Amino acid sequence: MKKRTTPASSSSISRRSFVTTAVPGLIAAASPHAPGESASESKSAGTPEQIHLTWGEDPASSVCVSWASPAQAVNPRVLLYTNSGTHAIHAVQRTYTDGINGQTVFTYHALITGLEADSTYDYAVTADDDRNRNLPFRSSFRTAPRGRVPFRWTSYGDLSTPVTSWRLSSAQSAFAVRAVEGFKPLFHLLNGDLCYANLNPQSQPAVWADFGRNVQTSAANRPWMPCPGNHEIEFGNGPEGLNAYLTRYRLPDNGTAFPGRWYRFQVGSALFISLSGDDVVYQDSGAFNAGPEPLQPAPSTGNPAILPGASLYIRGYSGGAQTRWLESTLMAAAQDRSVDWIIVQMHQDALSSSKHGNGSDKGIREAWLPLFDRFGVDLVLCGHDHDYERSWPVRGCNRHAGRDALTGATVDTLQPQPVITATPSEGAFDTSVGTIHFILGGGGTSAPLDAYGVNAANGLPQAKVITKPNRPVPSGIPGVFDKPAADALEDAIWSARRDTETGYGVAVFDLDPGTPGGKTSITISYYHALGADKSATPRYDLFETVVLAKSRRDGRA
Ligand SMILES: [Fe+2]
Ligand SMILES: [Fe+2]
Repeated sequence: MKKRTTPASSSSISRRSFVTTAVPGLIAAASPHAPGESASESKSAGTPEQIHLTWGEDPASSVCVSWASPAQAVNPRVLLYTNSGTHAIHAVQRTYTDGINGQTVFTYHALITGLEADSTYDYAVTADDDRNRNLPFRSSFRTAPRGRVPFRWTSYGDLSTPVTSWRLSSAQSAFAVRAVEGFKPLFHLLNGDLCYANLNPQSQPAVWADFGRNVQTSAANRPWMPCPGNHEIEFGNGPEGLNAYLTRYRLPDNGTAFPGRWYRFQVGSALFISLSGDDVVYQDSGAFNAGPEPLQPAPSTGNPAILPGASLYIRGYSGGAQTRWLESTLMAAAQDRSVDWIIVQMHQDALSSSKHGNGSDKGIREAWLPLFDRFGVDLVLCGHDHDYERSWPVRGCNRHAGRDALTGATVDTLQPQPVITATPSEGAFDTSVGTIHFILGGGGTSAPLDAYGVNAANGLPQAKVITKPNRPVPSGIPGVFDKPAADALEDAIWSARRDTETGYGVAVFDLDPGTPGGKTSITISYYHALGADKSATPRYDLFETVVLAKSRRDGRA
């Protein structure tokens, strides 16, 4: 492990190794404050807040520092303290104006490249109009190691904010961020439904700000890599409603016309693929005005009223581009002997037996599970249902095994086929024979969903399955609309473990690269917050440990 670099330490890194990379389509931020702005505002307009890190394209050499400020910043920059001195990396600005309340949000992104692998760097975030310019915000991060090396990551989704006046926010979300920090992962996967701003439509930017202040406790120290969930889809904010999300996160480039929605990165021998499930799911669960009143955007936006019954349904938004990208990315991984493990993150669930949550979505089973089978994806990490569920390794599917929830008629739910249905005596699952799906939706909302479906006829786990679009329908109350629940049921023969004690928790993944010609393993420890369903708690206890092991792909190197 390399020694922490500080401004006072000796030189080992050249100044020219740091490159500031502009992001196409973004504006270089250096303009002064607007005429007419007050002196006190102009002195503090660029004060950084909501500071968070993401990986650049190569986690071993690049990290992006992102933040927001109350108004437009002057000369926003990161100061990187290295052995060779202090380097200023100028940030690029991304802004958007909220399509409902008309507030303009200013964010800044400083992509740092040319870093050394497996090294700790101190940094500060500031601007000429930073109120704290004399003592700017300061923290440190660590780059990823290269090669087959051990490392740890964590995951959950459905976090919300600790400001309980916002819908679905909960005090648990602050403890959840501290829990991640306590496990000291190299990075965290935040698997969608970040803050539920779309449930507070008149105040979306304020909800995002409270989310950003909360996650800074950990995300300023280690990358938090998100995927978009259905609650990132907002009225008036871009074709997929994702402008708030895309403005705040600078994520690895995917080379398509849809930057930021999906991406990949590799750490050690694990390839991580982050997907945008709303592109393929049948369920309609984005922005929705249930009525009876229209949602009236601020006059400054010029946007029309959003009528009762309106929903922003984006299934198919990429026109197949995401699935084509996924296939080519998996195909490349299959030929890459440096990749032992493939981990997919997405928000919605292909395998969930939650009783009161959304359930399983046939859209994912149709579009992506065949690719996961073909290319041997090891793990799929999801949220969406606010609980914990683990599947057996699955491969292929049983046809016509479901039934209509109302009529009982046969429905083809593409029921996933478990290939192992008991914990192996040697203690480790070999995921080269099947993919294990985890639901880790217990970040910190006010709506735990740790009740699960049971088939009354045989007492076995039962899942709801959404097999067709559930667009809004009149509720029976004039002007009020509902979205239909899942239309089908199936026996959840693939469900291995469900946490019925609490809906809250965090999963910790420890990758052991093993030795050449031998096995590599991932130990998964799920810690849950007992009692959090009733009142928030900082305590997370071990619920279960699962070990995966498979042969390394580098043979006897
Ligand atoms: Fe959620
Ligand atoms: Fe969700």
